[in-house]
Amino acid sequence: MAQIPTAIREPEIKFTQLFINNEWVNSVSGKTFPTLNPTNGKTICDVQEGDKADVDLAVAAAKKAFEFGSPWQKMDASKRGALLHKVADLVERDRLYLASLETLDCGKSFKDAYGEMAAVSNFLRYFAGWTDKIQGKTIPIDGAFFCYTRHEPVGVCGSIIPWNFPLVLFALKLAPALACGNTVVLKPAEQTPLTALYAATLFKEAGFPAGVVNIVPGYGPTAGAAISSHPDVNKISFTGSTDVGQTIMAAAARSNLKRVTLELGGKSPLVVWKDANIDTVVEWAHQAIFFNCGQVCTAGSRTYVHEDLYDEFVKKAVARAKAKTIGDPFDTKSEYGPQVCEEQFNKVLELIESGKTEGATLETGGQRHGTDGYFVQPTVFSNVTEKMRIGREEIFGPVQSIMKFKDMEEIIARANDTKYGLAAAIFTEDIDTALTFTSRVKAGTVWVNCYFKTGPGAPFGGFGMSGIGRECGEYGLQAYTEVKNVVMKTSVKL
Ligand code: NAI
Ligand code: MG
Repeated sequence: MAQIPTAIREPEIKFTQLFINNEWVNSVSGKTFPTLNPTNGKTICDVQEGDKADVDLAVAAAKKAFEFGSPWQKMDASKRGALLHKVADLVERDRLYLASLETLDCGKSFKDAYGEMAAVSNFLRYFAGWTDKIQGKTIPIDGAFFCYTRHEPVGVCGSIIPWNFPLVLFALKLAPALACGNTVVLKPAEQTPLTALYAATLFKEAGFPAGVVNIVPGYGPTAGAAISSHPDVNKISFTGSTDVGQTIMAAAARSNLKRVTLELGGKSPLVVWKDANIDTVVEWAHQAIFFNCGQVCTAGSRTYVHEDLYDEFVKKAVARAKAKTIGDPFDTKSEYGPQVCEEQFNKVLELIESGKTEGATLETGGQRHGTDGYFVQPTVFSNVTEKMRIGREEIFGPVQSIMKFKDMEEIIARANDTKYGLAAAIFTEDIDTALTFTSRVKAGTVWVNCYFKTGPGAPFGGFGMSGIGRECGEYGLQAYTEVKNVVMKTSVKL
């Protein structure tokens, strides 16, 4: 990896208003909300608070920008691609600033944030390449008819995103929507609005017409609900908690049957088979749960270890967690920083307490780290079962839950004993073991001898209550188009 530059510890906050129709505006109500620095709980700045009236304005702008004859509608597909490439160039130009701003606002390690900015430009470039390759088919039907399909943009797309990968998820929603010719109204998470606001200006600078990209910061039950129930929003794509996903889907159904893509929670099993290389797998399993302070939807949050390796694995996993460096996320020596906000911090500590009272063995950690901000000690539990809350619920924190198993039938049944189905992994040297597991486990992504590896072309999403639909790649594009079938009578059989 290229050398990581020194972070800007106090990045200038340039934009705190709503971005509608390529203009910065205050909220209609005049209200603001604070965004906090999770390392100390102090306010970074106040941001204009969008609500229904603001969403109405943003949706009207997006609808107008989508209309027949608008500059966006008339733009060649290849030009849309060029504009997305231009935004990727600008993200690369401002990478250091954006990564610093992300670290300040969400507390993630600067090293990770810097890496994530590369993922942001990769997403933009990947979808930039698709703009002029979104095409239909010609279909043979009986008789003298010409039958063909067009993949048309859906219209105004609403995006509601969480705080764990703010700018990556921003790009993951915007890039495919724009590649297909849609317009967008996006609400960033209330905990982390700053990078989305800055990035909005890059779309304007790149030359996107007014109204194509609109950003409305605000809270979920107000601004978010206004987007998901808006009659002029044609599609909604959401990443966040399963509960809110259900609320959004209900609102989408009741309002106008807008199309829905949901990427929700998980409780993903990571299985250590008896033939796995223990040192390698201890590190993978560690990263699978501790990366981004455990605030990852695909986190390997159920660590299943074969009984032959169990005791040694627990010992080594505990030693690895104890060696973890936690602290100032701007310090590149820190492996991780604080949880994003007080609510998440309290949720994680409460679930840790439940683990203790429900009979899991606390091997290390289990407390707040320090006295300032929202830091949680790296925590490892052994002797966990699926009956315990820490074995069933999404903790979204730095808490490894280790469980013991014996054989394949047992591990398949236990891995699938969850309402979720986002990801799964197995570590084994045996191809039959790997194939048996990958074919029978219920999960949208299955890793073999690795974890978290993916790319913008690989479909991402979940089985069960982990979501609906897929994002990324060609599969993900389908959600941003309507298929129109055209049948034309001809004078001869073609
Ligand atoms: P959340 O689901 O409440 O928030 C995510 C986004 O949805 C935010 O932009 C929020 O403002 C918006 N939202 C909230 N209520 C809404 C509503 N009624 N209508 C429309 N939009 C709404 O997630 P939260 O509270 O931040 O975290 C709670 C738990 O959710 C976490 O502990 C974790 O378990 C899970 N989560 C999963 C994520 C994932 O990547 N799949 C990301 C963040 C959280
Ligand atoms: Mg913040």
